[in-house]
Amino acid sequence: MLIQKKPSWFIPEHEATPESVYVNRRQILAAMGFGLAGGLGILPSMLPTMAAAAISGFPAQRNPAYTLDRDISPEEEATTYTNFYEFGSSKNIFRKAKRLRTDPWKVKIRGMVEEKITIDADELIAKLGDQEERLYRHRCVETWAMAVPWTGVPLARLVQLAKPLPEAKYLRFETFLDPDIAPGQRQSWYPWPYVEGITIEEAQNELPFLATGIYGKPMPNQNGAPLRLVLPWKYGFKSIKSITRISFTDKRPVSFWEELQAREYGFWANVNPDFDHPRWSQKTERMLGSNERIPTLLYNGYAEQVAHLYADMPQTRELFF
Ligand code: MTE
Repeated sequence: MLIQKKPSWFIPEHEATPESVYVNRRQILAAMGFGLAGGLGILPSMLPTMAAAAISGFPAQRNPAYTLDRDISPEEEATTYTNFYEFGSSKNIFRKAKRLRTDPWKVKIRGMVEEKITIDADELIAKLGDQEERLYRHRCVETWAMAVPWTGVPLARLVQLAKPLPEAKYLRFETFLDPDIAPGQRQSWYPWPYVEGITIEEAQNELPFLATGIYGKPMPNQNGAPLRLVLPWKYGFKSIKSITRISFTDKRPVSFWEELQAREYGFWANVNPDFDHPRWSQKTERMLGSNERIPTLLYNGYAEQVAHLYADMPQTRELFF
């Protein structure tokens, strides 16, 4: 994140239609034998969605319990302005991320559980029950923010499936490690693979979401395909992408960013506008697609759902960075 250079919100957003979308459509047309798709009344722009829908049943039904106080961010912005350091430290890595092969994709559930499982991501999601769509706010520690429809399942269902042993206190999540595919992972000063962690109480809360899609479609690689975590009350770096391993443990995991810069990116990282980052204010945020700065909310607006998790802890800086 903002370890060495100027703040990343100075990086101009990429506004052009991604060439990769165009290329992808052509590939899908060719693969489906639809060289004359226009003649069949099928618009090329419909094909990726159609192909995906046939595979996995998108879009899922929206859960009306999770609404927004703001407009949904433009899809083009949320899928082309992304943080995925495995593919580079700029925001426009979406083309590079195309190289990630996400099918098949094994996920391992390990550690202090009754059920140690190695399973394909699709099968895991199928086991976890019906997918749903939720509208969530997302606040990056760098002060940009978005509001997006995620598709997925509550993480709490995975905790149930794994049957944790009583001594399990934390969940530790890990992303793939493949420097041949992900050039960022050749940068040896980063502690690859990307790791994140939360407490088991946090994992059992209603909000943590294992997301498989965004905007009613399967997750684009750059947003963390095939499976990512979404923790809307915490700074965005906690929402780890492209998960390959979930371990239940009695030791507090040290996350990727914490290992690099613990003073700036802590374990808890709960959004709070009253506790500044050491190098900038957290009072306001800029929604993707807008230049206006708006006030940041305590727990990113989710205090009602999560504040009780921290009620017995000292309300000090450690909880909020
Ligand atoms: N997960 C992995 N594996 N690698 C990353 O670089 N970046 C994090 C988080 N998850 C990151 C990651 C950060 S800093 C943020 S803000 C969010 O992903 C961004 O999610 P988005 O790109 O889908 O908006």
